[in-house]
Amino acid sequence: MALTSFAEPEQKPKLNAMDRLEAAFADGLAEVNALIIERMQSPVGMIPDLASHLVRAGGKRLRPLITLAAADLAGYKGDAHYKLAATVEFIHSATLLHDDIVDGSPMRRGKPAANTVWGNAPSVLVGDFLFARAFSLMVETGRLRVLDILAGASSIIAEGEVRQLAAIANFDTDEQEYMEIIEAKTAELFASAARVSAVVADLPHAKEVALDRYGRELGLAFQLVDDALDYAGAQSKLGKAVGDDFREGKITMPVAKAMQKSSTEEHDFWIKVFRKPTRTNADLQHAMSLITKHGGVQATLDQARTHIANAKSALQIFQPGKTRTLLSDICDFVVERSF
Ligand code: IPE
Ligand code: IPE
Ligand code: MG
Ligand code: MG
Repeated sequence: MALTSFAEPEQKPKLNAMDRLEAAFADGLAEVNALIIERMQSPVGMIPDLASHLVRAGGKRLRPLITLAAADLAGYKGDAHYKLAATVEFIHSATLLHDDIVDGSPMRRGKPAANTVWGNAPSVLVGDFLFARAFSLMVETGRLRVLDILAGASSIIAEGEVRQLAAIANFDTDEQEYMEIIEAKTAELFASAARVSAVVADLPHAKEVALDRYGRELGLAFQLVDDALDYAGAQSKLGKAVGDDFREGKITMPVAKAMQKSSTEEHDFWIKVFRKPTRTNADLQHAMSLITKHGGVQATLDQARTHIANAKSALQIFQPGKTRTLLSDICDFVVERSF
């Protein structure tokens, strides 16, 4: 045995944690994807056209996979989790359609963003349609607590996006405000994606809170890494344009970290560049060089790792096993993705 494996080294590339999570819940995810396709149909042709442009472009399906895995961890035996996972992905998709308009982003999931193909108005309206379909789906589960959690999350996401508008080019935005914004716009949905499975599985309160904590901490790390990748990632791997946050005037964590260490001259650059109505590629290059000089990306990733450790420790209340390991490993994947 040992000799054979020595003579014939493993040919298959090692699966990363995302692939392993997807493989473990492939059947459930197929159910969820079928539900998504079914429920985005409408006799008004532009709705499925625009929605399927986004849905079929892919996406990691990380949030619905978390719902499926959390249901498994909770020992859930019913089928409401498919509808919940689809609900979560619908809410996510609706926010992406709206977010790309607000952010003026040209690319999503490796394709032209829907707003650049159909325009802003259809994207807003189809986003609304997806939100409404998300709500119908979760109503079908008949669980009021689930409605409460996901309806609450939807309003918190919107609050996060609105708070972020006020933070654009605003140097009074401190790290605490930034963290509150990303908790609202991103982490809340991760928390809810995990928590609703605890609810349908009737887990004791402590375990429900633990799953919420897991998702929340993972979501915070996810957005911190996303903001690091906006400076340090590659468009080809991300499927979205690098430098979007800077062009838009978002003062994210890599910039905040670089600003904390900046000389007077560098500080002036940041103030001036964010006060301009638009920022050039040369501005972006200079910003990147300052972020590199002061380790802004590394400091952001370090912070993400702290939240990853919190997410993993929230899982400790559950018995060890394959699903707990997958949920734990996905935490590391979130920090390592695309670098
Ligand atoms: C993008 O989320 C929005 C953020 C919270 C940064 P994902 O990176 O999970 O997007 P998809 O679904 O895989 O495209
Ligand atoms: C994503 O925020 C959060 C929501 C969509 C609510 P970002 O604006 O940072 O995400 P990307 O970079 O567009 O994916
Ligand atoms: Mg955006
Ligand atoms: Mg981003």
